[in-house]
Amino acid sequence: MSVLFEPWSPAFVANPYPAYERLRSEGRVHWFEPTRQWLVPHYEDVSALLRDRRLGRTYLHRFTHEEFGRTPPPAAHEPFHTLNDHGILDLEAPDHTRIRRLITKAFTPRTVAALEPTVRRLAAELVAKVVEEGGGDLLADVAEPLPVAVIAEMLGVPEADRPLLRPWSADICGMFELNPSEETARRAVAASVEFSDYLRTLIAERRRSPGEDLISALIAAHDEGDRLSEQEMISTCVLLLNAGHEATVNTTANGWWTLFRHPGQLAELRADHSLLPTAVEELMRFDTPLQMFERWVLDDIEIGGTLVPRGSELALLFGSANRDPARFTDPDALDLGRADNPHITFGAGIHFCLGAPLARIELLASFGELLRSAPTMRLTGEPVWNPGYVIRGVDELLVEL
Ligand code: HEM
Repeated sequence: MSVLFEPWSPAFVANPYPAYERLRSEGRVHWFEPTRQWLVPHYEDVSALLRDRRLGRTYLHRFTHEEFGRTPPPAAHEPFHTLNDHGILDLEAPDHTRIRRLITKAFTPRTVAALEPTVRRLAAELVAKVVEEGGGDLLADVAEPLPVAVIAEMLGVPEADRPLLRPWSADICGMFELNPSEETARRAVAASVEFSDYLRTLIAERRRSPGEDLISALIAAHDEGDRLSEQEMISTCVLLLNAGHEATVNTTANGWWTLFRHPGQLAELRADHSLLPTAVEELMRFDTPLQMFERWVLDDIEIGGTLVPRGSELALLFGSANRDPARFTDPDALDLGRADNPHITFGAGIHFCLGAPLARIELLASFGELLRSAPTMRLTGEPVWNPGYVIRGVDELLVEL
């Protein structure tokens, strides 16, 4: 058990919670030299800072790299940054406001709600296969294919091309881990080039013959006066495709791993499926799939009496915030019926997860289907954690019925 914040240590990644407890007890903000970031472990601070306009996901709307005291990324990384820097997750106002409004026009609550029957059907098909085979890998057989199929379906990515998405996404998301290596950057650049080229072609096709899909809707929003440039279209599609599955995959697999380790609670859930909505929220709180998000300090701020100057970077520890006893009663206990559960898993403020309603539909569908159709499902071995800390998930989850 590691009580130190060691994001590259497998023991820490497998269970970061004791280290978080120590960080919370030792202060509001901690300098972490290996990444040159300030770690913020308390719920109240994480929640407030996500809403604080003195911070940003980027600084480039106000400063050049040099003005902000940072080195520009190497020219060879340019394709990754071009792709990333035009997506709303890495923009601030006014571009963020403008593009998020356009996406919201296409990604409406009605479009998302209308997907529910499709999501349920897909979940039923995937679970039926696991049942038929008497077990399998819950990650590869259910957790992964469901959100990938849903977001690909929404955007109108042809079925034959869908196997391309997961490897591109994985290579790009490697850059969101702490201190990525040059090899990680090389893979992310290659994936950014290929993914962008692929989408450029798909977008051109949809311009010629629009369909009922989200890409066509984004083009329509683009053509109505407000502007979505070609690069913004590509970056939006990549963001939706990647954000649209990465965290849901891990929430599903991590959630089942948690349930298997709490057999009493799993039995209660199996006996009473009406617990499912609070159970899904609790699983998202208990083992947060996205452990950390970063913010740049655009103007000096103070956290718990410590001055954090402009140019600094904060690491907001979502996994820790969700276990903070100052906000959650008995936070290290899994309580599938927890009623007071304002977890921070989907973020807060202007970058609050655009896909939260869709993620909830997917999670309810897959957990619900597995409860109904695989009531005897049990684990056949202890899972191994992926090395990633920021996007944290197990490598496989082997089960039998
Ligand atoms: C359980 C699953 C999910 C989790 C835990 C999750 C979590 C998050 C979080 C924490 C953020 C904000 C990050 C920050 O403030 O720095 C975010 C943003 C975002 N998420 Fe999700 N997400 C999930 C599923 C989805 C899905 C299914 C989509 C599908 C479209 C999606 C699309 C987005 C987008 C587009 C943003 C950027 C919003 C903005 O910057 O304005 N997410 N997500």
